[in-house]
Amino acid sequence: MSTTATATGAPAATTVLNATDVTMRFGGLTAVRSVGLTVDSGEIVGLIGPNGAGKTTFFNCLTGLYVPTEGRVTYKGTVLPPKPHLVTKAGIARTFQNIRLFANMTVLENVLIGRHTRTKEGLWSAILRGPGFRKAEAASRERAMELLEFTGLQDKADHLARNLPYGEQRKLEIARALASDPGLLLLDEPTAGMNPQETRATEELVFAIRDQGIAVLVIEHDMRFIFNLCDRVACLVQGEKLVEGTPEVVQADERVVAAYLGTPYEEAPAKDPADPADTATDSTRSTTDTTSTDDTAAPAAHDTPDGDDR
Ligand SMILES: Nc1ncnc2c1ncn2[C@@H]1O[C@H](COP(=O)(O)OP(=O)(O)OP(=O)(O)O)[C@@H](O)[C@H]1O
Ligand SMILES: [Mg+2]
Repeated sequence: MSTTATATGAPAATTVLNATDVTMRFGGLTAVRSVGLTVDSGEIVGLIGPNGAGKTTFFNCLTGLYVPTEGRVTYKGTVLPPKPHLVTKAGIARTFQNIRLFANMTVLENVLIGRHTRTKEGLWSAILRGPGFRKAEAASRERAMELLEFTGLQDKADHLARNLPYGEQRKLEIARALASDPGLLLLDEPTAGMNPQETRATEELVFAIRDQGIAVLVIEHDMRFIFNLCDRVACLVQGEKLVEGTPEVVQADERVVAAYLGTPYEEAPAKDPADPADTATDSTRSTTDTTSTDDTAAPAAHDTPDGDDR
C-alpha cells in the first residue's frame, strides 16, 4: 500500500487497488493485455470501452473469478487470493453486468446473504440457534435494513427479488454488495436498463457510497453518467488501455471517440463540408456530450445485460 503526504502534512490518498500488467488470455484470444490500473481511497474511477473491450474480463481478474494469465493485483498492499469469496472477505465487493440475485428470496434475504462473509457464526451455531447466533442474526438484519434504507428499498424488504422492477434489482445488487462492508466496490454497468431518473438516482447513490469511505470502480456505457461521476476514467479498447485521465482529458481524446465509432482514428474519413451531418462534432456529441439533456446520448446497444459474466 502506498501512502503519500500532502504539502500540508495531511495524509493523502492511499492506493486501495493496484493492478499491474494484467493479461487474460482465452486460448488464442487476448481479452485483456497488460492493463495497469490503480484506485485510491476516496476515488471514483470509471472504466469505459466499446463492447468486447475486456472490461468485464478485467473485473473478473480483480475479483478472483479469473486468475490472470499474467500480472498482479493487490488490495491495500496484499496480493489477492484467487477465489471470489476470499476476495470479498478481503474487502472487494462487486455487482454483475447480468444481475445475479436469488430471485425467489426476499429483498432482505438477498442482502443478508451478502453479509455472510462478515458473520463469524458457524454452521452448528446456526443449527442450534443459540444466543450467539440470535444476536448475530439480529445485528445482520439491522445492518441489512440500514442498507435497504440507504439504497431506497426499505419498503420492499419483504418482496421477492424477482418481483422488483429492473432498476430496483440493480439497486438491490448494490445493497447486497455493500453488506460485505467493502473498502472497494466494483460496479459492472449499474445503470444498464434504467430510466433517466433511476440513472440520476444511481449517480447520487454512488457519490453517497464514496462519501462513506468506499472507493468505487465503475464500468458504464452511459458517458454522461461516467463523466459526471468519476475522478478518473480509463478507456479499454481491444483489451488494452488506450487512455487514462480526468473526464475532461478522456472525453477530449479523439482516439476514444474513434474507438466507440469503430473508426481507426488515422483512417477516419475526411469530412464532407457539404454534409452538415458528417462532422466529428456531431459524432462526438452522440458519444461523449455530458451536457446534453438527451438521455440517449450514451453509445447505443449497451443497455441490456446480454451475454453472461463469464
Ligand atoms: N470465458 C471466456 N472465454 C472465452 N472468451 C471470453 C471469455 N470471457 C470473455 N471472453 C472474450 O473476451 C472479450 C472481452 O469480453 P468482455 O466481456 O470482457 O468485454 P466487455 O468490455 O465487458 O464488453 P461489454 O461492454 O459488451 O460488456 C470478448 O471477445 C469475449 O468474447
Ligand atoms: Mg462487460
